[in-house]
Formats: sequence, C-alpha cells, structure tokens
Amino acid sequence: MGDIQEDRIRCAYHDSKNIYDSVLTQRNIFARAYIKFFWGGTDDVAIAHKMLSFIPDNFTGSILDVPCGTAVFTAEKWKSLQNSEITCLDYSEDMLQQAHRQLDGFSHITLRQGDVGALPFDDQSFDVVISMNGFHAFPDKMKAFDETCRVLKPNGKFIACFYIRGESRRTDWLVHHLLAPKGWFTPPFQTKEEVQKIVAERYSKVELHTDNAMLWALCEK
Ligand SMILES: C[S@@+](CC[C@H](N)C(=O)[O-])C[C@H]1O[C@@H](n2cnc3c(N)ncnc32)[C@H](O)[C@@H]1O
Repeated sequence: MGDIQEDRIRCAYHDSKNIYDSVLTQRNIFARAYIKFFWGGTDDVAIAHKMLSFIPDNFTGSILDVPCGTAVFTAEKWKSLQNSEITCLDYSEDMLQQAHRQLDGFSHITLRQGDVGALPFDDQSFDVVISMNGFHAFPDKMKAFDETCRVLKPNGKFIACFYIRGESRRTDWLVHHLLAPKGWFTPPFQTKEEVQKIVAERYSKVELHTDNAMLWALCEK
C-alpha cells in the first residue's frame, strides 16, 4: 500500500471508530434513516448473520477474519468457537483497539495489525477466510483477492460481503461524494460482473448474491 493511502485509511477509521458500530447496527434513528435512504434498507446485521451462518457452531478449524474492524458483528461468534483458531487482522490500530476490548482474554483468538495486500501467513494456512465490509475499503482489491485465496487451504471457504458499483444510483452517489472522499471506501469499485469473473478465476465453487448495492459471496477453493 502507498504511504498516502495508508494515512487516508488510518485517519478515516481513527475519526469514525466511535460511531462506526452505531451506524452499522442502526442503533439510532439517524443511522436507520441513513441506511434506509442511501442503502435501500439493506441490513448489515442480517447480512453479517448470514455470512457467519456459513461457519457451523461446532467448527474446529482455522479462521482468518480480515478486516476484523471493531468485531461488532463477529465478537459473540468468535468467542463461542472455542475449539477453533481465529486470527483477526486489520490495518487500523484504532479499529483493532476496539476489537481488543471485545476479544482479549480468549486464547483461541489472536488479533494483529496488517495489510490484506501482504498477508503475513504461509500459503494454505486457513480453512476459512471471512471478509465482511472490507473489499470496498481495500486500496488494492486484486492483491486482496489474491492474498485471501493464497492463504486458504484447498477446499477452504472464502466468505465475503461488500459494496459493488452499478446496482443503486443513490448508493453510488453517496460513495462517490462522501464515503470515498472521506477515506472509508477506496476506489476503484467493482461491478457484480467484475467480481463474478475475479472469483471464478480463483475458486472452484462460487455462489454470489446481491442485496441492493451489497454483494455477498460464498466460494470454495
Ligand atoms: C468498513 S470496516 C469493516 C470492518 C468489519 N469487518 C465490519 O464488518 O464491521 C473496513 C475495515 O477495513 C480496514 N482496512 C482498510 N484497508 C485495509 C488493508 N489494506 N488491510 C487490512 N484492513 C484494511 C479498515 O481499517 C477498516 O477497519
């Protein structure tokens, strides 16, 4: 990642770390209005539950959660998977600090700072890589697709959800005029067809769905 992009992402998530959870979980009326108007009511909590439901409650393998953010959606599930090994990685120290508050003290969970474009893990290290709301923030999306696939074991699962361009004019407007200039999202953004092609080149089984401007994917290596 370039220095300027590093700083933009670090600052953006430093400034938003205290409101991030409330907006995504629609805890107040403003957050609910924002989600309804700009995201067509797409419920991030419901999508997160769907993504997490792909990991069984008695799962015993290794999981990489990148970017883990504050762990707002994942903390309860990760804490409950006591017989698995979970690594939570994020670029922003501020977001990680919030995740530490939720996840410290659980020996099966490790938190670390890092860049999805240069993952500090050997090839074929994980049974599952989960990436929620990350790809629209990653500056080098192709590197992120390559790296998340590289660290997965054969038959490993790639589970992801993120914003895609071209599905909702209102969401595209918001991303272009606010979220990208603020550094919360980082262009270029992909369309569903572009993502379809990218994952088909890397995974043997692919399932993609869209909910307004959010795409979710369940893929097997
Ligand atoms: C919208 S948040 C999503 C966090 C969490 N998965 C969730 O759903 O709440 C996006 C996260 O991507 C992280 N991020 C941005 N670029 C990154 C990179 N190159 N490597 C790792 N994390 C990155 C940001 O620090 C931020 O925490």
